[in-house]
Amino acid sequence: MPQHILIDAAQRGEQFLSALPDRSVYPTAEALEGLSAFDVPLQEEPVDPAQVLEELDSIGSPATVASPGGRYFGFVIGGTLPAAQGASVLAAAWDQNAGLEMTSPVSSALERVASGWLLSVLGLPESAATGFVTGATQGNFTALAAARHALLSRADWDVEEQGLYGAPEIKVVVGEEVHVSVLKAVSMLGLGRGRLTKVPVDDQGRIRADQVPELDDMTLLCLQSGNVNSGAFDPLEELCQKAEGAGAWVHVDGAFGLWANATAKYAHLLTGVELADSWATDAHKWLNVPYDSGLCFVRNPEDLVAAMSSTAAYLVELGPRQPFHFTPELSRRARGMEIWAALRSLGRQGLAEMFERNCDQARRMAEALTARGIEILNEVVLNQVLARFGNDDRTVQVMKHIQAGGEVWASDTVWQGKRALRLSVSSWATTDDDVDRTLRAIFEAHDLVKATT
Ligand SMILES: Cc1ncc(COP(=O)(O)O)c(C=O)c1O
Repeated sequence: MPQHILIDAAQRGEQFLSALPDRSVYPTAEALEGLSAFDVPLQEEPVDPAQVLEELDSIGSPATVASPGGRYFGFVIGGTLPAAQGASVLAAAWDQNAGLEMTSPVSSALERVASGWLLSVLGLPESAATGFVTGATQGNFTALAAARHALLSRADWDVEEQGLYGAPEIKVVVGEEVHVSVLKAVSMLGLGRGRLTKVPVDDQGRIRADQVPELDDMTLLCLQSGNVNSGAFDPLEELCQKAEGAGAWVHVDGAFGLWANATAKYAHLLTGVELADSWATDAHKWLNVPYDSGLCFVRNPEDLVAAMSSTAAYLVELGPRQPFHFTPELSRRARGMEIWAALRSLGRQGLAEMFERNCDQARRMAEALTARGIEILNEVVLNQVLARFGNDDRTVQVMKHIQAGGEVWASDTVWQGKRALRLSVSSWATTDDDVDRTLRAIFEAHDLVKATT
């Protein structure tokens, strides 16, 4: 492979990033139509790599969503920190298989170090095990597989050997506002999403502790730190203590909310989080590393290893920690490198500053919208803002104007039966000027809709 291809790619990447402040956040209709240029039959003869890259960039780049920029507030996405971006380019060149210590000693070393830093920054037990997975969905799945192992082994049932046929039942308890990824994990683990006990929630989506049923040592209680719409946190301390007394397993889905523990200002939302048995979070959301990158943590490493490990004579086990015993994948890319780079570049202060700045920006947006008579449906406790423009119809129209305008992109959602515009402030790249530009775009769209309806 010609070495200059990396330089070419980096230059194209640089141009893409520096154009972000001035381009439409969502690709234009013309750019999307341009994607049809990819629709060609696979040719017989090879094509020069430089030409392949040129085609990819010229057709693909205009059709990208500018989510690494400062005015993308859709879903909970986040951008990419410069150090993580650089690490990602290097990781592509290194092309390490992170599955085994033997196939990548450097990746194993970086994962070991990053794991210790993560547990410390997130306030989790330092002896917990970390799995570097593809996202919070996989983090939930992996942690719940460890929970399934632990709960069934208490009943002398080896689920990895015997499967679930004839196994004692695990009672899975979730809040009504449980994230769909937990439901998916439960179904993939054979625990049956139709068999869950769903506990009512309050007006912010927090599980009502007084409605949680009796727990026992065959119960898996799934709590949430950071509701995908409202950003609300379940009452962890009270429920973890209740679960501990009963011998139940507590899992916390903190896809973005778990990072609040890296701040002094918002850590109170997670009081008691260290009492749980397992946790999942994303790195590609609020830690601002590239896709795809998520994490799971399990208090008792043996439970995770029992659920995930596989052995074969050819899989040589070197060193103290075999990465493939901690994740569903065997071969995988060295995503721990980018996490290491993000943590190393920001340090504890930089992390706290990034998360707190995004929360301040979310609150400023909510206050400015309220001052213009726009209803905010949630308590803005973290980085999520739910704005409603009078009624469902108007809210959808405002949202469509905003999304089509190109200045800003934010998601549509339904919160407790009401349509809302959902702004998730999750990017290191969002400046205060971006917040001003966003507010102007929302006000303009709102004024336009008000004038025509
Ligand atoms: C609370 C929660 N859990 C899990 C997920 C799933 O994360 P991922 O898309 O990284 O799998 C999300 C995504 O927004 C989330 O908000």
